[in-house]
Amino acid sequence: MGICWGSPAESPTTITTDHISTVISNKTSNTASSLGSTNISRNSLFSASSGDESYPNGQILPHPNLRVFSLLELKAATKNFRPDTLLGEGGFGKVFKGWLDEREKGQGRSGNGTVIAVKKLNSESLQGFEEWQSEVNFLGRLSHPNLVKLLGYCWEEKELLLVYDFVQKGSLENHLFGRGAAVQPLPWDIRLKIAIGAAKGLAFLHTSEKQVIYRDFKASNILLDGSYNAKIADFGLAKFGPSDSQSHVTTRVMGTYGYAAPEYVATGHLYVKSDVYGFGVVLVEMLTGLRAHDTNRPSGRHNLADWIQPYLCDKRKLKSVMDSGLDAKYPSKAAFRMAQLALNCLGPEPKHRPSMKEVVEALERIEAAYERPLEPRSHSDLPTNQRHSRQQPLQHRSVLHPRQGGNGYPPRLK
Ligand SMILES: Nc1ncnc2c1ncn2[C@@H]1O[C@H](COP(=O)(O)OP(=O)(O)OP(=O)(O)O)[C@@H](O)[C@H]1O
Ligand SMILES: [Mg+2]
Repeated sequence: MGICWGSPAESPTTITTDHISTVISNKTSNTASSLGSTNISRNSLFSASSGDESYPNGQILPHPNLRVFSLLELKAATKNFRPDTLLGEGGFGKVFKGWLDEREKGQGRSGNGTVIAVKKLNSESLQGFEEWQSEVNFLGRLSHPNLVKLLGYCWEEKELLLVYDFVQKGSLENHLFGRGAAVQPLPWDIRLKIAIGAAKGLAFLHTSEKQVIYRDFKASNILLDGSYNAKIADFGLAKFGPSDSQSHVTTRVMGTYGYAAPEYVATGHLYVKSDVYGFGVVLVEMLTGLRAHDTNRPSGRHNLADWIQPYLCDKRKLKSVMDSGLDAKYPSKAAFRMAQLALNCLGPEPKHRPSMKEVVEALERIEAAYERPLEPRSHSDLPTNQRHSRQQPLQHRSVLHPRQGGNGYPPRLK
């Protein structure tokens, strides 16, 4: 979730729709479990349509369809937030793995109960409440196979928590930059699959009837399920797109260094195409295995998108910056086409960037043209000595400064 960047732009537009106001007023009167006219109810978790199965192209629900969890339930699920259940930490707070009570078993989609991820607001997080609201209001209504599923929330005893489906393989960031035996470099075809899934998630947001600008697209916010399907997480910074008469929304500048579009950083003007820029940065990270923002690189190279561009438009130069973790096992024409696409996404003029729908189509064409050109090699087959050396260690499960991303990297805008 995002941290504010001290910018000259206007004050933030607080996202308080009628619905979320209902949540708040009900909560204030301490009746969390009876949110009246909304679709939020204690029993909605398993009875509600998840949307994933019946709506492969996603849907927007008229109201958040969320379950209200009690703090007691979430304490039980996470063994009282025991450190060994900690999955990571970001700007909002810590994320714990949990298991819903045994009595839930048989009702969960797998038939074996539900594994959840519980995000607990850090009491020092200044922006937490706004982001919590935004997450409930946006993600609670959005349903798409490439968006992480928000199951519910808890607001009790000054504690704010969010409860999600547990996404098995963690973040793309960890797979690209993590270290240790458990983290293997992603092979080419999996990277392409992830790019397509994430692009579909963004395309859904951008083309939905109420256009949503996501605003915090980055590798740590792309989670991967057991089959490497991408699930976009963290809607704390999401905004509704501009009305018909306007081309952009003006906001306080928030986001993450290295991913935020230059026009947004400079002016606070947020376009749907600002998300496309962030997507281009992630594409480059997947091609090169280099972080969007890395102060350990020589000066002038901290910001990946700034210096990498000449390398993306030349086949030989591209080869020199490709991720060594790919072990040269990628179709070079496909990589070059992906680099061209990334370049288009990084264009300085928002209106000249492709739409996310066009990005999905381009990636699918790349996939179709180069499907399995190399002998299939299992992801885990790679010997550890072929792993590329990473520039930054990623302490995926360590506790770091609460105002930074889960691994403290890259720095948030504030
Ligand atoms: N639903 C989930 N399933 C599995 N792991 C999750 C889930 N949500 C979050 N995580 C893990 O928790 C970590 C921290 O997530 P979080 O979104 O709080 O921080 P972040 O993405 O690193 O930083 P930021 O605050 O900028 O979003 C993630 O990197 C991911 O590994
Ligand atoms: Mg995140």
